Amino acid sequence: PDLFAPERVNSKGFDLRHRPTLEQIDAARAPFQAAQWQAAPLVAKDAPSGTISPVLNPSYPSETVGSITWATPETVAIAAEAATLWDASPDERAAALNRAADLYEAHFGEFFALLHREAGKTNLDVVAELREAVDFLRYYAVRSAGAPARGVIACISPWNFPLAIFTGQIAAALAAGNAVLAKPAEQTCLIAHRAVQLLHEAGVPVTALQLLPGAGDVGAALTSQPQVAGVAFTGSTETAQIIHKSVAKNLAPGTPLIAETGGLNAMIVDSTALPEQAVQAIVESAFQSAGQRCSALRCLYVQEDIAEDFLEMLTGAMDTLVPANPWELRSDLGPVIDEEARAGIMAHIDLARSEGREIKRCAVPETGYYVPPTLVRINGIADLEREIFGPVLHVATFKADEVDAVIDAINATGYGLTFGLMTRIDDRVQHVTERVHAGNIYVNRNQIGAIVGSQPFGGEGLSGTGPKAGGPFYVDRFRQQPAPVAGQ
Ligand code: NAD
Ligand code: ALA
Repeated sequence: PDLFAPERVNSKGFDLRHRPTLEQIDAARAPFQAAQWQAAPLVAKDAPSGTISPVLNPSYPSETVGSITWATPETVAIAAEAATLWDASPDERAAALNRAADLYEAHFGEFFALLHREAGKTNLDVVAELREAVDFLRYYAVRSAGAPARGVIACISPWNFPLAIFTGQIAAALAAGNAVLAKPAEQTCLIAHRAVQLLHEAGVPVTALQLLPGAGDVGAALTSQPQVAGVAFTGSTETAQIIHKSVAKNLAPGTPLIAETGGLNAMIVDSTALPEQAVQAIVESAFQSAGQRCSALRCLYVQEDIAEDFLEMLTGAMDTLVPANPWELRSDLGPVIDEEARAGIMAHIDLARSEGREIKRCAVPETGYYVPPTLVRINGIADLEREIFGPVLHVATFKADEVDAVIDAINATGYGLTFGLMTRIDDRVQHVTERVHAGNIYVNRNQIGAIVGSQPFGGEGLSGTGPKAGGPFYVDRFRQQPAPVAGQ
């Protein structure tokens, strides 16, 4: 069911098993195979900008994809001054957001090319990303009527959903009539720039939506502008904690901060699970998008009785994965986002190998920032000190009578984003799902790819503040609390 918005339907997306659809995608993206895009601040007043950097393709870092002219803290201050609420009726705002969704769909060929070449996204990833972005626009458009806007909203997004999350934050704030200052992740500004151009073309005024391409310094400048009346952040837990302090120090008391952050996501597979179903779900959850999803499975608990055979099936399934240039149809996973990410993840798996804990490491191309899909043995989730944001799956075993101890260990991490359970015992489904602290729980399926409108997404504890994205309460966080009038 589509929570509270029955009149809207999700984007159809693309069926990658359908040959004519593939040919259509191929033809539409072909003109952009060697394209060079330019990103720059999109600000409503004349504003100085900073230096220019090339953007490199993470599959082939010798290939440039375009260039970015960076915003500076001074650009941010001028944009904050120029920002004005979106002065249009709720219906007009909804119409513009729906037009933007249509434009995103119409430009699918360019987005396939951009997402392959700037973000290393495979075809499957692009389909999911484009659908989610379009769904956010249409879902929040339905919620444009309500209490007045808050004012200027700072939207700060990560590189791992460079179109979907970037668009989702903006669309929600705009639906309520706010003015948005959007700062995309520094790694994916070309995608963000193209998205904002299309939002402007759809009718969103430049004073209501300004783009500030930049890194953490630009984000920090943004969260200390006195005009800012709310912050929507998605990214790491560490950055959220820094932003929390800045909001408390620099902005008005009570300024809302939505922070959607990282996770140490677990799955429990007991001895009654269907092995083929579990293996497929695990491979998708851990390795799709090269493990660069906040929702991705990081720690698998397998019941000891089945572990040996189960892990043999799992490593066999890993052998069928094809890591390759995301432009290729047969690419199951592309590179990670940059050399810094690659080096950090490789250090983690090399340490596991040196300690004799590596179970399986797949082969990957050597042309770019590829990280091999890897399986690593651990004693339990408490061994993981931080989120490893890549295609690395940690495996622990548990005895039949240790399910509660496993749940306690998962809860003790303090994170609570996604959780998966594979079992055919109905009572266990209820027992476990009632006790695990996680924002999104998946039973007998993969644990990634929440659907806007039917699976609102967001964590608890160290994983997020809520309200959940793609859910019925999100847009209201960007509105004023209506004042009750008493005494009439
Ligand atoms: P990050 O925290 O490094 O960066 C996120 C954004 O914050 C970027 O735009 C960055 O430039 C900006 N930033 C950095 N320092 C800042 C500062 N001091 N002030 C203001 N802004 C600042 O995260 P990332 O590497 O881009 O993304 C990956 C992380 O995001 C992972 O931890 C992942 O789990 C998380 N994530 C969470 C969700 C969710 O919905 N819960 C979704 C996607 C990604
Ligand atoms: N919404 C994304 C997912 O569920 C993060 O995988």
